[in-house]
Amino acid sequence: MTRTLAEAAAALADPDTFVDGPPWELFAALRESDPVAWTAEPEPNQGFWTVTRHADIVAVSRDWETFTSNRGVSLEELDNDQLEHRTSMIDTDPPAHTAMRKILAGQFTPRVINGYESFLRGVVARTMDNALARNEFEFVEHVSSEIPVRVLSRMLSVPDTDHAKLTSWGDRLVGNTDPEFADALHGSEESEQYRLLPFRSPAALEVFEYGRALQVERRAQSTGDLISLMVEAEIDGEPLPQRDLDNYFLLLSLAGQETTRQAITLGMHTLITHPAALAQLQERPELLSGPALDELLRWGPPVYHMRRTATRDARIGDTDVRQGDKIALWYASGNRDEAAIPHADTLDLGRESVDLLTFGKGGPHFCLGSFLAKMEYRVTMEELVARIDTAEFNGPVERLRSNFVNGVKRMPVRVTLR
Ligand code: HEM
Repeated sequence: MTRTLAEAAAALADPDTFVDGPPWELFAALRESDPVAWTAEPEPNQGFWTVTRHADIVAVSRDWETFTSNRGVSLEELDNDQLEHRTSMIDTDPPAHTAMRKILAGQFTPRVINGYESFLRGVVARTMDNALARNEFEFVEHVSSEIPVRVLSRMLSVPDTDHAKLTSWGDRLVGNTDPEFADALHGSEESEQYRLLPFRSPAALEVFEYGRALQVERRAQSTGDLISLMVEAEIDGEPLPQRDLDNYFLLLSLAGQETTRQAITLGMHTLITHPAALAQLQERPELLSGPALDELLRWGPPVYHMRRTATRDARIGDTDVRQGDKIALWYASGNRDEAAIPHADTLDLGRESVDLLTFGKGGPHFCLGSFLAKMEYRVTMEELVARIDTAEFNGPVERLRSNFVNGVKRMPVRVTLR
């Protein structure tokens, strides 16, 4: 049984496993029988531990001294040269991490983010009205892709005309294991030439160049936006080196739109597959201001996992891991753990609270943009359920080939209006 399960766990290293949607049954079996499962990987990678239980994921996140982020948070095994080039805030530990995060943290507080709500609602309302002018449309292109990028652009003070570029960079970076999006498929020989770039993607060079032009402008004239804060920041009396600015900007421009875009698509997917939940929200949209929002995000988490690396021999649950081992924290699985979330296999918008792992939990890297993401998600869902009566798929839902991001590339829908 365990051997079979260990073999099955190896499927988590293969992006093909995810093209039909998240492997919920495999996650459930692992949580039950092998919660810290050794997951073999094809050479030259060394394999990793798959952590599927909620409590173990939180414990590992919390103990950043034993489980470092500084070997990278993707499963790719990076040598020192690659790390030197590719490290961004998310790949560091305190205290360096704390100093980097502090530069922008003040821009992501509830008070500041709430200031964007009326702008956001205008964006969402216009987007919905345009999309719903037809009864049949492709949801990713006409709804999800239109919303987070506009808020991010405002925070970066970049023009509307650059939206398509930002979205396409997101696709090419996160889609590095999907032949439709990857410039050079991750792991292929061709990708070797890009090994020093984040995601091994040449799109990173375009993002760096774009960010650098903005940085030059803000150095000449500060606008108080995120770029201005980055170029004005000092750590230990020194401005950030260009490489840190490049990687920080890339992290932000990706995290700030790609994940939320996927979240919105997954939210609509959930409403289509659960018509009773749609009816409940149509009747009581105020639920979206409470735990129901977290419940939807629990059900459709955009990020499957993040990696840590053991800095010493240690124990996770009942399993011994060795110094240097890679650890994958499968947030998506922890979200469905009965031990933390009663009747976790049921979508229940009436829960009193949800112990959510979608944005991480307990560690220093807890999503910086979670409040913003939740506001974008809530306002989109509010405007959606206010307008639609029924919704169904109008063609196949096409998934991203990725074991990192729970992505939907295309989702044709047919709706009737209220
Ligand atoms: C639904 C949308 C989103 C999801 C599911 C999500 C998820 C995550 C997760 C899982 C992490 C890592 C947590 C950890 O390792 O402990 C993270 C980190 C991060 N997220 Fe998000 N995120 C979303 C939206 C956003 C937005 C809108 C922004 C910013 C504009 C953002 C910025 C970041 C940054 C900068 C980090 C790194 C934080 C650090 O290293 O301290 N995210 N996010």
